[in-house]
Amino acid sequence: MHNLDQIVQAASAAFAATDDPDALEQVKAAYLGKSGRITELLKGMAKLPPEERRAAGAAINRAKDAVESALNLRREAIREMALAARLAEEALDVTLPGRGPSRGGLHPVTRTLERIEALFRSIGFEVADGPEIEAEFQNFTALNTPEDHPARSMHDTFYLQDESGGVAEGVLLRTHTSPIQVRYMQAHVARHSGLATMPEIRVIAPGRVYRVDSDATHSPMFHQVEGLWIGENVSFADLKGVIGDFLRRFFESGDLQVRFRPSFFPFTEPSAEIDMAFMSGALKGRWLEIAGCGMVHPNVLRHVHIDPEKYTGFAFGMGPDRLTMLRYGVNDLRLFFDGDLRFLRQFV
Ligand code: DAH
Repeated sequence: MHNLDQIVQAASAAFAATDDPDALEQVKAAYLGKSGRITELLKGMAKLPPEERRAAGAAINRAKDAVESALNLRREAIREMALAARLAEEALDVTLPGRGPSRGGLHPVTRTLERIEALFRSIGFEVADGPEIEAEFQNFTALNTPEDHPARSMHDTFYLQDESGGVAEGVLLRTHTSPIQVRYMQAHVARHSGLATMPEIRVIAPGRVYRVDSDATHSPMFHQVEGLWIGENVSFADLKGVIGDFLRRFFESGDLQVRFRPSFFPFTEPSAEIDMAFMSGALKGRWLEIAGCGMVHPNVLRHVHIDPEKYTGFAFGMGPDRLTMLRYGVNDLRLFFDGDLRFLRQFV
């Protein structure tokens, strides 16, 4: 029986030396498996004289029970160790404050667009929009842009693919908001076709536009706000008044100057680039181009069946992204479109 005690002790020591379930199972096999030491002893009983069998059997079974309970204890201990390790790893600090829904905010460019809309509404402009996938007719042709104008080339314009993978005929991602002028005038003319005198058109149209272009000051997607005022006596002086007034109200500053620099656009004549500069502050004296503008070209009016002998008007297309950069002192346009919350949160 001395031998049995030793076996039980050896088994307990071997169990205690394991610390994962696989190792434990191997040790178990060495004692209780098919040819484990305890199993062998049980098999050996057949060779004992009958009168010794009963006592030997009882002793071996006691040893077997002892080995099994040592095994179960170790199994339980290993399970607890594993659980403790997992809990330590996934530690939850229940004293931390809860993470509620965080507060969102308007994108800085959206704030600018809303501000522009409010200011133009206050002087009687409507706000219109149009499709971002635009027809070549509205985007170029009706705007008096010749077939061979460089803006139409694939270097500047995103064209769309048709089902066979070729360039889809006659559709593109609008390169400017000017096609909304065309759509708005077409609808306006249709709406007032019976009248001897067409009511004035006074509209702005903000939206996303697309060009094959990307660096610190150009993004393949950016924003424009189109403006259009058509009536019986609308002049370049009105354009200057509207723009100057708008900029002073937008920047809440009387301390800025506006300059109209001669330029060219197919859809206006004469055409100008609008520059502005602050007369004080960090950007003092730096001229920045913020819009294109001009008197609407007679050919554009003819395309939408408005009589250029009777009606005149001005149009402009400005860059609200630029205005946002100026208003908030941001120097890289791409920051607006990266979606980095650390940047965007500053405007909430
Ligand atoms: N569409 C022009 C551009 O994207 C900007 C522009 C210039 C719009 C003159 C106008 C305008 O309405 O009159 O470069």
